[in-house]
Amino acid sequence: MVAGSRAVLGFTGAGISTECGVPDFRSPGSPWRVNSPIPFDLFMASEEARCEAWRRKFAMDDLYGHATPGRGHRALAGLVAAGRMPAIVTQNIDGLHQAAGVPADKVVELHGNGTYATCLDCGTRHELADVRWRFEASGRAPTCRSCGGVVKSATVSFGQAMPEQAMRRATRLALACDLVVAVGSSLVVHPAAEFPLLAKRNGARLVIVNAEPTPLDGVADLVINADIGTVLAPLSAVV
Ligand code: OAD
Ligand code: ZN
Repeated sequence: MVAGSRAVLGFTGAGISTECGVPDFRSPGSPWRVNSPIPFDLFMASEEARCEAWRRKFAMDDLYGHATPGRGHRALAGLVAAGRMPAIVTQNIDGLHQAAGVPADKVVELHGNGTYATCLDCGTRHELADVRWRFEASGRAPTCRSCGGVVKSATVSFGQAMPEQAMRRATRLALACDLVVAVGSSLVVHPAAEFPLLAKRNGARLVIVNAEPTPLDGVADLVINADIGTVLAPLSAVV
C-alpha cells in the first residue's frame, strides 16, 4: 500500500516510542496511570501546582529524557527522506521524529513539545536546563525573563487550547494524502484522533499499526495488531 501511494501521511502516538524506553499513556503499568498529568486549569491556579508540575516533569525527564529514536521513527524518517511521506502528524512530545532525522518543518506536533518551555504570555522560549536550575535554586516556579509571565513546558495540557497552526496543517495534510498510517496510538484522544478519520473520509486509505484495538479499526482498510518496530522496519525496502 505504501508503494502504491502518492502521499503517505504518518500519524503517530506514544506507542512508537515505547521501544525507546518512553512509556505510553494507556498501557498497563504506565507511570501516567499513577501520576496523571496536571490539567491546565490546575497549573494556572496556583504556584504550588506549578511547582508540583515542574517536579513531576523533571522526574520524568530524568527517567525518559535521554531516549533515542527506534525502528519505527527510523522507518518513517526513511519515508520522509524518500519523498513518500510529506509530513508526520504526531501526538508525541518527545522530539524523537526530529531526532531520527525528519526536518522540524515536517513534524506537526499536535500536543506540543516537551523538550523546551515557553512563556504563556509572550511566547518567549526558555530552555529546560535554565528553568530547572532556577526552580531548584529558588524552590519557586520560574517566571518569564522577558515579561514575568507564567512559564510552562511547551506541551499541550488537558484543558489547554490546541495549537492553531498545527491543527490547520494537520487538516491540510489529512485532506491531501492518499494513505494514512496511524502508528502507536489508542486513537481515543480528541481532536487528535480525528485526523486519520478525516483522511479516510476524504478518500485516503487507512492503515492502523497498534498492539491493541482502536475505535477506528472498523473503518480502517488494514489493521496490524503487532509490534511497531517489527512491522515498520521492512518499509525501508519499499522506498
Ligand atoms: P496511548 O498510550 O493512549 O496509546 C498508545 C498505544 O500504543 C496503545 O494502544 C498501545 O497498545 C500501543 N503500543 C505501545 N507500544 C507498542 C508497540 N511496541 N507496538 C505496537 N503498539 C504499541 O498513547 P496516545 O494514543 O499517543 O495527550 O495518547 C494520546 C494522548 O493521550 C497523548 O498525546 C497524551 C495523552 O494524554 C496529552 O498529553 C495532551
Ligand atoms: Zn513572557
